[in-house]
Amino acid sequence: MLTEGAARASAIDFGSPEQIAEAFRQADADGESSLLEMRQGDIVDPPLSEEEFGQFDVAHARFVLEYMPDPLLIVRNMARAVRPGGRVILSDDDYETLRLWPEPAGFAPLWHAYQRTYDRHGNDPIVGRRLVQLLYQAGLLPNRNSMVFFGGCAGEPEFENVVRNIASMIDEAIQDIVATEHLVHRLMQRLTH
Ligand SMILES: C[S@@+](CC[C@H](N)C(=O)[O-])C[C@H]1O[C@@H](n2cnc3c(N)ncnc32)[C@H](O)[C@@H]1O
Repeated sequence: MLTEGAARASAIDFGSPEQIAEAFRQADADGESSLLEMRQGDIVDPPLSEEEFGQFDVAHARFVLEYMPDPLLIVRNMARAVRPGGRVILSDDDYETLRLWPEPAGFAPLWHAYQRTYDRHGNDPIVGRRLVQLLYQAGLLPNRNSMVFFGGCAGEPEFENVVRNIASMIDEAIQDIVATEHLVHRLMQRLTH
């Protein structure tokens, strides 16, 4: 949350009109919409003017590097965007770290198949563990690295929401997961004949 008198924030996303409206609704609910500017665009070639590069105090990317075939290009853009002494903050997923308790029988191979759908799209389901390396490769000085627990345990008030979220992710990708299974099957046939 940004407080009154805080710096302005410029956000970049492909952003459907619904997503942008929701971002403003949330900012408005916190009384911060006057501090927020949304730019529709591609972070591969960010909609920033030449004069804006090197001016930002902070560049932050969350849950988007996992969808980038070349995440280093994005981190280099972020490094160019900040002023000398500015900060680049990366937050992203490492799906292999998911821990659920209890874990339903058969969940582990299904979760693995879900991650393989990322590979097939040139995405990276475990980019979270690479973030420090990406900062370093972009010529930045990594300063801090921390991991947020990904999962849930029965008895936690949020457990049901965590499980629903995981189930909806798998549900949305089910066609892709099935396609992955077909590929594995074809590969196995090739290997065994
Ligand atoms: C999982 S959502 C994360 C949204 C937000 N950053 C957050 O942390 O809540 C991934 C977002 O990345 C955006 N996205 C994916 N590829 C993009 C690209 N090349 N340029 C800009 N936005 C992109 C999508 O439109 C989507 O809103």
